[in-house]
Amino acid sequence: MVHSIPSLPTQASTTGPIITWLEGEQTHTARWQSESRLSPPKKVLVVDDTLTADRAYRMACEGIGLLWRGDFQNARQLLDAMARRIDKPKKPKRISKTQEAKRPSVQDGSTPDSIGAAFHAYRLAQSQRSRTLAQLLIPIGPHHQIQLARAPKTGLAGEEAFGPMSEDYVIPLREMLGVVGAHEWRKKGLVIDTLKTDEERRIYPHYGVFSPIRGEYLDLISKAKLPQALEAHSRAFDIGTGTGVLAAILAVRGIEEIVASEIDPRALRCAQDNIQQLGYAEKIQLVETNLFPDGKASLIVCNPPWIPARPSSSLERAIYDPDSQMLRGFLNGLVTHLQSTGEGWLILSDLAEHLGLRSRAQLLTWIAEAGLVVLAQESIKPRHSKAADKSDALYAARSAEITTLWRLGRANPD
Ligand SMILES: C[S@@+](CC[C@H](N)C(=O)[O-])C[C@H]1O[C@@H](n2cnc3c(N)ncnc32)[C@H](O)[C@@H]1O
Repeated sequence: MVHSIPSLPTQASTTGPIITWLEGEQTHTARWQSESRLSPPKKVLVVDDTLTADRAYRMACEGIGLLWRGDFQNARQLLDAMARRIDKPKKPKRISKTQEAKRPSVQDGSTPDSIGAAFHAYRLAQSQRSRTLAQLLIPIGPHHQIQLARAPKTGLAGEEAFGPMSEDYVIPLREMLGVVGAHEWRKKGLVIDTLKTDEERRIYPHYGVFSPIRGEYLDLISKAKLPQALEAHSRAFDIGTGTGVLAAILAVRGIEEIVASEIDPRALRCAQDNIQQLGYAEKIQLVETNLFPDGKASLIVCNPPWIPARPSSSLERAIYDPDSQMLRGFLNGLVTHLQSTGEGWLILSDLAEHLGLRSRAQLLTWIAEAGLVVLAQESIKPRHSKAADKSDALYAARSAEITTLWRLGRANPD
């Protein structure tokens, strides 16, 4: 059963920001497309294969947009070369003896309060990096086709990401590569071991939808003991369903009725496709809503964004949750929506704790203030490669990260 799923727009909106440039002594304009919400550059130069990486990098750093008219594959190489210039290790600044004496004492290899500061510096560097690389622009013709020699066919990828469009537009090359990459994932899908019945099962993430590529939390959901309350009412909620993967795991585990909620229309369409292709459309109902659907359930699962900071683009909304709004909204709504002896399952990485952005004590206070008790905790270490990458700016925090399934119950059941 699928409810209230917005369909893709029949034609993407034609209003929005415009980019302007001078070419052949004429002023040109086109629609500006940026999912990262970057503004169109004020100054734009038309460039081609004769542009060196050093010059491109310098101009991009100055905020000059570079509208590419050369070969598509050369543009990709240029983008890589610009990225290498940004990522090149910087020489450490020389610190004078007086400055050194003024530095706070170093205990465990990191300066006090350095972890939180390192996170903010990391986010700033990431956003500057994105802005610089986004200055390399490509022209897109009708139906999302890149207008450059040796460009791949991008019509379907563009339509999947942005809806049908007959208008020309200009987009940062890096963003268009993201669209093409997402299309490949959507075609290929991700094998989800925990969904395996007698055959291999896949989830097909859409552009801009949280992909369960780091699958360790799926193991937690598929192995945890189901609450007894399900025997009387076999009904579960999956809050913020994304691709629909947790709802599908609950269906594989035999829960008869599942209501999966989502606030993002793209994610809803993605979950709808996945649930249909997995054959669970009769068991899983999708609802577009903020947090909880109506009514009560014996089990309510939620994997909210885990870093309490502002997302820098719509694509980051599944990871960054300003002021832990979704997390707190989930905790505060549980008592109202849980059957008396039902359980709320919260999946939460503790990366924010290692980054000094949220403390364990704060989380436990929110749980208690929401009228809940912790029934049990099951934890797993991330297996993703970044956790072992010593060159990563956040290595100390990432290597200590643990993801926990918090099993929560009502402090005062009826
Ligand atoms: C970390 S992702 C998890 C997705 C999926 N449950 C999974 O485990 O793969 C968080 C999801 O919550 C959704 N979301 C964020 N705020 C929400 C809200 N207030 N109500 C419903 N869904 C929300 C996001 O769109 C995103 O799909």
